[in-house]
Amino acid sequence: MKRGVLLRWAAHLPLTEKTPRLSLGEGDTPLIAGASLARDVGCAELWLKFEGLNPTGSFKDRGMVVAVAKAVEAGVRSAVCASTGNTSASAAAYCAVAGVACNVVVPEGKVALGKLAQAVAHGARIVVLRGNFDAALARVREVAARRGIALLNSVNPHRIEGQKTAAFEIVEELGRVPDAVALPVGNAGNISAYWRGFCELGGRRPVMLGFQASGAAPLVSGVPVPQPETVATAIRIGNPASWKAALAAQRESGGLFAAVTDAEILTAWRRLSTETGVFCEPASAAPVAGLLRLAREKKDFNGQVIVAVLTGHGLKDPQAAIDGQAEMGPPVADDPAALEAALR
Ligand code: F0G
Repeated sequence: MKRGVLLRWAAHLPLTEKTPRLSLGEGDTPLIAGASLARDVGCAELWLKFEGLNPTGSFKDRGMVVAVAKAVEAGVRSAVCASTGNTSASAAAYCAVAGVACNVVVPEGKVALGKLAQAVAHGARIVVLRGNFDAALARVREVAARRGIALLNSVNPHRIEGQKTAAFEIVEELGRVPDAVALPVGNAGNISAYWRGFCELGGRRPVMLGFQASGAAPLVSGVPVPQPETVATAIRIGNPASWKAALAAQRESGGLFAAVTDAEILTAWRRLSTETGVFCEPASAAPVAGLLRLAREKKDFNGQVIVAVLTGHGLKDPQAAIDGQAEMGPPVADDPAALEAALR
């Protein structure tokens, strides 16, 4: 049985006797071998940490369970978040089980269908904002402070605390600290959380490699992007809230931030699903696209053990999958010969 983040990692989390031990069985996601990709990256081993196998299909559940439990402990009965989709799905689910009223504010027109369906299913109040994620986050920060309700974005320190547990799992499962960890970076909370996790373990630490979409790459350019654009809607963010913490992770680890184009993201995404059997959402393919690009640019990964974090499940964004690789022909006649002719 999966115990969930609060029970499994209690000693490392800011819990008290009064913190309700919520669980949807989050965490304990697998490391899946990416052998053909490892060959092209030129490393010894490439492991895909498939965070899409969390209860709501993304890594957000690790931190959300802590944030919602702490809100309940504090006696708060209402919560809000801004989201490109996954945070809202996770917040809606954990608020549902905790009996907390959940409000999610999403940017107009750019939220993947599966994520919206989850927020609806779990009974959240959904507010569509005329503006992008950065605007939505700024507004909910103001409103949460004014109304005294829980803010469930990763600016809530409990989110980061929960998300750091993924680093513990990696070291436990590999039996060693990887040489490098590659992540997609949007609001920059997750890369900061992994870094905290590795630092808390003590000893050797990995190099942190953060990848952004080229149309939404403020950490690469060093300046906010007013109108971020990318097919990877999860990381369509121009002014990350955890900018400073992410920069510290990159500097202290000797790592880097780099941008990958939408075309590179989609190519890596297709390779993940057709070669490794792992169907993630487009944003999650950014670290694999980034590693492949660095290898093409002659970065030497020889002998290294690398973990790429695949942050969300492919079913989150079914439309992207259909648009990206539709090979569906017209319907065939209900007839054995017609069917046989249509097979490959
Ligand atoms: N991958 C996925 C699938 C995400 O949903 C996000 C962020 C990231 C990567 C980036 O993580 O923000 O910690 O750097 N999604 C947020 C949301 C913004 O609202 O669901 P980050």
